Amino acid sequence: MAKGIILTGDRPTGKLHIGHYVGSLKNRVELQNSGDFEPFIMIADTQALTDNARNPEKIKNSLIEVALDYLAVGIDPAKSTIFVQSQIPALFELTAYYLDLVSVARLERNPTVKSEIKQKGFGESLPAGFLIYPVSQAADITAFKADLVPVGDDQEPMLEQTREVVRAFNSAYDTDVLVEPKGYFPPKGQGRIPGLDGNAKMSKSLGNAIYLSDTEEELHKKVMSMYTDPLHIKIDDPGHIEGNTVFTYLNIFDQDKAKVAELKEQYQAGGLGDVKIKKYLFEVLNEEFTPIRERRLEFAKDPQAVYDMLQAGSKRANEVANQTLQEVRAAIGFNYFD
Ligand code: TRP
Repeated sequence: MAKGIILTGDRPTGKLHIGHYVGSLKNRVELQNSGDFEPFIMIADTQALTDNARNPEKIKNSLIEVALDYLAVGIDPAKSTIFVQSQIPALFELTAYYLDLVSVARLERNPTVKSEIKQKGFGESLPAGFLIYPVSQAADITAFKADLVPVGDDQEPMLEQTREVVRAFNSAYDTDVLVEPKGYFPPKGQGRIPGLDGNAKMSKSLGNAIYLSDTEEELHKKVMSMYTDPLHIKIDDPGHIEGNTVFTYLNIFDQDKAKVAELKEQYQAGGLGDVKIKKYLFEVLNEEFTPIRERRLEFAKDPQAVYDMLQAGSKRANEVANQTLQEVRAAIGFNYFD
């Protein structure tokens, strides 16, 4: 049986954090190692440029950081093609064709883009490229004929928009060259971790993130500073579990479920201090992230090798995307010289 194809990626606007890890990186590594897929993993520098056009340095510097994060978590260039979006010209031509099949009103209704536009406060200076990035994302996915896209829950509207583009294209040009993708998401309740401050979102801009590249000391300091239960003042006070970041993290990261249940019980009864549970959480996180941190340091010793890997990946990605582009041109009827 032919292998399924995966296309996914991240915008390089900084280092990746453990929210990215539970939201999608973990799934990508598992799918890669299952051997049932051919994965393409894209560093979306052009998408990152849509709201950073005057700050390309940030993207350029983040490119290597994201590549190192990928290698550190176990994305293996021998099994997955890691490549750079800006180096694949076919993606831009596909985007141009797809844009004619999508209305501005539909883009303005995309819930993820809508909330990002609000959050970034663009107002009248909303870049056109930002509004249309879901269409370029449709190009990314369809160029590889991906059927599976492992991403965080917030990306579902992108997949819906991609499926609409696929249907519109295949129907307009009476073809079946484009493939409708499905999302692949983390198990319920396991895919989203709050920031250190208890904010629902972990993000660089909120300054509440734990990075895959954090040292053991940084990890320790961050865990000890975590938001817990403001009503739990004395050790003997009964503590609350709901909305308590430490327990939310334990739910996700601690495999010893019986132990977590026991700690919750003690905490709620009173008599279990925050320092103690934080120290325990630190141990749990440190066990998970030490091998990742160490691999990252190893790969970081040879940045040239990382760029060489990205160049090889981009070459391979171009072959696949150019093939699809030929088929797309032919479907439209723009294959005049064949
Ligand atoms: N939108 C994704 C992000 O914000 C990055 C991305 C670009 C992507 N193209 C993609 C993800 C295609 C999955 C598939 O990080």
